[in-house]
Amino acid sequence: MRSQPPLTEPFAIGGVEVANRVLLAPLAGIGNWFVRLQARRHGAGLAVSEMVSSHAIHYRNERTMAELLRIHPDEHPTAIQLFGADPGVMREAAAVAAASGADLIDLNMGCPVKKVRKTGAGAELISDPDLAVAVAAAAAAGSGRPVTVKLRSGLRPGDRSGVGLAVRLVEEAGVAAVALHPRSAAVQHKGSPDYALVRELAGRIEVPVIVSGGLGSAERARRAYRESGADAVMIARGSFGYPWIFAELTGRRTAAPDGAEIASELLWVIDAAEEHLGGDRAGRYLRKFYPWYLARIGLTQREAAEFQAIAGLDEVRRRVRALAGVALSPA
Ligand SMILES: Cc1cc2nc3c(=O)[nH]c(=O)nc-3n(C[C@H](O)[C@H](O)[C@H](O)COP(=O)(O)O)c2cc1C
Repeated sequence: MRSQPPLTEPFAIGGVEVANRVLLAPLAGIGNWFVRLQARRHGAGLAVSEMVSSHAIHYRNERTMAELLRIHPDEHPTAIQLFGADPGVMREAAAVAAASGADLIDLNMGCPVKKVRKTGAGAELISDPDLAVAVAAAAAAGSGRPVTVKLRSGLRPGDRSGVGLAVRLVEEAGVAAVALHPRSAAVQHKGSPDYALVRELAGRIEVPVIVSGGLGSAERARRAYRESGADAVMIARGSFGYPWIFAELTGRRTAAPDGAEIASELLWVIDAAEEHLGGDRAGRYLRKFYPWYLARIGLTQREAAEFQAIAGLDEVRRRVRALAGVALSPA
């Protein structure tokens, strides 16, 4: 059995140094450059991007190129996650992602959403291992970067074919790390992850295995790390409105943030979103972020929902400052 180092110990993925074993998971519609930068600022060793369509890159979709492939200079190492099921398109998309500054290319072979699966991508690739291997090999050839894969245990409860696919991806396509979310695609994000499957995979491949699923708090992440025998943990929903989870897991702090600290973090997110998307789009984009932070300052769901209806980011800022008693910055 592998001996398990502390989460604070560095490791490498295909030669890319990662400062610790606490990673931000790919999160569609969320994991843009500033959410990744925020995770890194709070101590995450590596942040993976939201999934990006290889086809959208192929067609040079304007927003995909300008927004989803945007990488902040201070967030490296960065993994850009791509999805798609056409090796030729993936080869090109991976090359473009690498040229945009991605240190690692991550491939999505776990997305359970119908819209993605019906194109043959995401978790659907688990049912076509030959194609999955070809897609991974193409991403490596196109990018010249280490390629990682994130996948599920299988398609339906009890199906373990994701584990067999992971072994093939490493042996035949040279995949440099595997993140396993040991729930089937059919249950999406519900039910208990089967950490024993992660342990089994870790015993079968030489490259790092990363555990995802059910890591909603620092305590649960530590337990999953122990139970799975993985090389690293990947935090997803546990980071929503709580980037301090990275600081807790990497031993940077033990005290929970107070209201003022949470408010200033939210103000940082608002500023970054406005810079990224402009005021109008940021106003809409941020609606999902508000309840995550405001609930931690003690607002009820209803009070947080009222925030989502506020017009104009300056008014949102004013209310956030007032809420936590943060001094208004000089005009
Ligand atoms: C809103 C949301 C978006 C997600 N987007 C992606 C994605 O783009 N790519 C991916 O591989 N997994 C995605 N996932 C799955 C997460 O990375 C993670 O595997 C899953 O949430 C289980 O971890 P948790 O139980 O700790 O939240 C997403 C999950 C959520 C909740």
